[in-house]
Amino acid sequence: MTNTLSSPQLVVALDVPRRADALTMARTLKGTAPWCKVGMEMFTHAGPAFLEELVAMGYKVFLDLKFYDIPNTVGQAVKSAAGVGVDMLTLHCQGGERMCRAACEAVASLDGKKPLLFGVTVLTSFAQGEMPGIRENTSDFALALARGAQGWGLDGVVCSGHEVAGIKAACPGFSCLCPGIRPSGSAADDQRRTMTPAQAVAAGADYLVVGRPIIAASDPRAAAEQILADMTSAT
Ligand code: C5P
Repeated sequence: MTNTLSSPQLVVALDVPRRADALTMARTLKGTAPWCKVGMEMFTHAGPAFLEELVAMGYKVFLDLKFYDIPNTVGQAVKSAAGVGVDMLTLHCQGGERMCRAACEAVASLDGKKPLLFGVTVLTSFAQGEMPGIRENTSDFALALARGAQGWGLDGVVCSGHEVAGIKAACPGFSCLCPGIRPSGSAADDQRRTMTPAQAVAAGADYLVVGRPIIAASDPRAAAEQILADMTSAT
């Protein structure tokens, strides 16, 4: 599927412990990032109703639960998530061909909005050699997973900015969504394969996922606007 964007989009990760704080953050950031990401921390706390609130606020919603299970379970989970109205979902490429195809078939069977499916390659928190059982170079491993994911019908992959150029060259038309984004001078936290917003955009990323550099900033809206300016400077 060819669905790369003409200009990269910012996704804010609403990784806060309380629903009320996440809603306040979403209101504060309205008009900056078009996307909000809900991950396992907020989803297990606030549930599907919270996703519907974000949809009602006009956000595109990315449900980042990184599904990894048997094909039937993942296919049914994709249908459940789509029923809430999310625009994007993640699953692990390492779930393999049958699991990823089951997710794609679930999306294809939907009558209404069809969420984009993104496959996680190598978490941006992994440094080279840290992935259990994987000796291969991180970029090579991410690329191999991306090639598979494109063939299995996913819309794109989650990867670090360091892998984007290789994936774009090998998988034309395939989208890359990059976490591990850190404005220059900011703390890496637990991330290991990081890039600045401008570097990731210059590498060809379609979506940049940013959490702590925005949500933990003293002025989150100003932080988001600075990241958007940094992204624009690289286009
Ligand atoms: O705070 P920070 O910018 O590091 O947040 C990154 C977000 O992206 C987190 O919500 C994390 O779960 C998510 N993510 C990631 N690496 C991946 C996939 C998702 O950091 N490979």
